[in-house]
Amino acid sequence: MGGSPYPNAVEAGWKPALLKPALPASTLLRVPLDIQLKAYADAVNGRLDRLLPPAAATPVELHEAMRYSCLAPGKRLRPALCMACAEAVGAEPESVIDAACSLEMVHCFSLIHDDLPAIDDDALRRGIPTCHKRFGEAIAILAGDALFSLAFETLSHCDFEPRPVLGAVQVLTRAAGSDGLVGGEVVDVLSEGVPVEAERLRYIHSRKTGALMSASCEIGAILGGGGEAQIEALRGFGEKVGLAFQIADDILNETADAATLGKAVGSDRQRKKATYTALYGLAEARRMAEETAAQAKAALSGVRRQEFLEELADFTVRRLH
Ligand code: IPE
Ligand code: IPE
Ligand code: MG
Ligand code: MG
Repeated sequence: MGGSPYPNAVEAGWKPALLKPALPASTLLRVPLDIQLKAYADAVNGRLDRLLPPAAATPVELHEAMRYSCLAPGKRLRPALCMACAEAVGAEPESVIDAACSLEMVHCFSLIHDDLPAIDDDALRRGIPTCHKRFGEAIAILAGDALFSLAFETLSHCDFEPRPVLGAVQVLTRAAGSDGLVGGEVVDVLSEGVPVEAERLRYIHSRKTGALMSASCEIGAILGGGGEAQIEALRGFGEKVGLAFQIADDILNETADAATLGKAVGSDRQRKKATYTALYGLAEARRMAEETAAQAKAALSGVRRQEFLEELADFTVRRLH
């Protein structure tokens, strides 16, 4: 200890309080959110690269399109939620990496199809041309289909007992289906240009975006071996985070610029989409996003990783892209 020829900073007399007197000790030890998110994203990107079929495998056009969209620089928030929720119930984040990748695959399928001319007709995604702009509509539709299929193959191969894996598969199928993501997308499309009341708007957002985020948390908690109360707490957290995230997406579509966002801005207004900003106005939408993030944080009890999950909830509504 004191006799070491290489004393550490504290042994050498360094006093953090002198440098950062206003900060409590815990603040000095906290890893910033962006560093933590990058650590998850790096792990997920590496694993996705191996799970996706090689670009040279037949049919080359399909595999190139799957890799193009899935490996493009997304935030990897659903994988991060899954891995953090596994940690929240005491498991190692790496243990659920394949489940995390399966969530990103379903997400990527939804982005490719959401951008198609028949749905949102968008040309830019993750800062690059959308899948159909780059590969044509037929390949984009089929790349989405293949990613959806690969997601369930990946999840069902997860290295856990059959029972939790089956539970996770059920959660993901339900979240992706007609009472989840796809159902939300359908009502989103049907609501273009028509007056929409609060309940219908909440239905759209909690399904097209909330369902997969909630499933990400629930699957992490199930595979991580969480108890019933923990799984329920984390599922509820994900549900609120997802809703807050989509309200923020509505706000960013009005307020951000395309270069920062990596996708079109002003398009919701142009297409007369059902959004929180259209129904409530910008200021009230902001307040509702904050309130929903606060509800997400309040749902967290009896789990670890609380500080990170709380920061993530705040990030969903304060993010710039
Ligand atoms: C975009 O999701 C689609 C919505 C659900 C709003 P993200 O904002 O998480 O997209 P990426 O994955 O970072 O590109
Ligand atoms: C988000 O839809 C949900 C899905 C893609 C399933 P949006 O159409 O609101 O999202 P962006 O703005 O295109 O990313
Ligand atoms: Mg859409
Ligand atoms: Mg869209």
